[in-house]
Amino acid sequence: MIGIDIVVIDRIEKLIQKFGDKALDRFLSFEEKQLVKSSSTAAGFWAAKEAASKAIGTGIGAKCGFHDIKISKDKNNAPKIKFKKAIRKKFKIKDSSLSITHDGGFAIAVVAVEVKNG
Ligand SMILES: CC(C)(COP(=O)(O)OP(=O)(O)OC[C@H]1O[C@@H](n2cnc3c(N)ncnc32)[C@H](O)[C@@H]1OP(=O)(O)O)[C@@H](O)C(=O)NCCC(=O)NCCS
Repeated sequence: MIGIDIVVIDRIEKLIQKFGDKALDRFLSFEEKQLVKSSSTAAGFWAAKEAASKAIGTGIGAKCGFHDIKISKDKNNAPKIKFKKAIRKKFKIKDSSLSITHDGGFAIAVVAVEVKNG
């Protein structure tokens, strides 16, 4: 299963200017915020979580919130994505992978989810 999302980086930049850290808290954990050094990265993480929610078919909402999805980085700066345990169990998720890009004022993310017996 796959999901994709695109975000205008300026939208996230304005949110951060207006609401500061609270804007980031809405969709990022403390650990994720440590990885965010620019609005481009923040926009990429927003797109990644929206894309992940599309991959499991729920969208962001009651069934899967921003904080049910965790993003980390490996030693080469490649992003990794993981759903919280309850969601992995409910949707029978075996593995998830994420790719992010940004250019021309946009951030785009694609998430692939591998399910058991899928
Ligand atoms: C990683 C790379 C493909 C990114 O491409 P780019 O056109 O510069 O930038 P993009 O906007 O498309 O992608 C950036 C995103 O790619 C992701 N990324 C970074 N490193 C990555 C890696 N090793 N593998 C997979 N994804 C990676 C990140 O999510 C990054 O965004 P973020 O840091 O804001 O989260 C490119 O920088 C590259 O080839 N790097 C390796 C070579 C290199 O940098 N050598 C220099 C020192 S030897």
